[in-house]
Amino acid sequence: MRPNTSPSHERPAGAVPPSGHADTRAPFYPNHLFVEGVVALLVFALLVILACFWQVPPEEMADPSDSAYVPRPEWYFLFYFQLLKYFEGPLILVGTFVLPLLIFAALFLLPFIDRSEETRPSKRPWAMGLGLAGLLAVAGLTVVSVVQDAEHRMDLPPITEEHLAAGEDLFARFCVLCHSMNGKGGFMAPDLSQIGARVNRVYIERVILTPQIVSQTTIMSQIPLSDDERHDVSAYLARKKK
Ligand code: HEC
Repeated sequence: MRPNTSPSHERPAGAVPPSGHADTRAPFYPNHLFVEGVVALLVFALLVILACFWQVPPEEMADPSDSAYVPRPEWYFLFYFQLLKYFEGPLILVGTFVLPLLIFAALFLLPFIDRSEETRPSKRPWAMGLGLAGLLAVAGLTVVSVVQDAEHRMDLPPITEEHLAAGEDLFARFCVLCHSMNGKGGFMAPDLSQIGARVNRVYIERVILTPQIVSQTTIMSQIPLSDDERHDVSAYLARKKK
């Protein structure tokens, strides 16, 4: 004889059980809670094992002179990070507080709001639609974030002797008017003889593109260099360490 685990075997052969029928449901406590507890414990054990045997290396040491460092969260938080970009100024509170509060409140209240016993996705257009919209929003924001980051990343060509020589030439033509190098040049601007020891190449590129990132009121103007010329100058300066 079969053990009486489910009342469903009492139904006539071939009959389809009505979905959400009362006698096929198990109570939340203790049945459902027990299953949830076991799953939570298994996931926890898996995490402990992963943490012990699969080391995640930390990022490089923080470098205070690296003003080109772009802080980014892990990929699974990029969507939220991207969302925050759309809330500026006083609106930031909406992104950081109001919106998360509404979403978590909705999740908490869901069992009270949604009393339907229907479980077939096709019969639950609102729940399925909202859930799907949420998933699509998360996926979309993640993609936008990754694409925007890729656009902002600078892929600089490697430094060769040729580039360094060209950079030195360009510097003598466009920059020594204001900047000095090894004691020679103008004195309207900081000496750049050791600039490479303090900042990295990406920062130098950014300054040449937008001098205002150094100071809003700088007298340094945007110098009309081609991309290649800018790369040469930044290579030359980045090597100026002592
Ligand atoms: C008209 C004068 C002028 C010219 C020309 C000029 N600069 Fe500057 N630059 C400045 C001044 C002034 C500053 C300091 C920022 C400030 O406080 O205004 C500066 C700052 C910088 C910095 C940042 C230094 C730091 O300590 O962070 C870099 C890098 C730089 N310039 C590179 C260049 C390069 C490369 C060229 C040539 C392609 C150039 N500059 C041409 C005036 C000039």
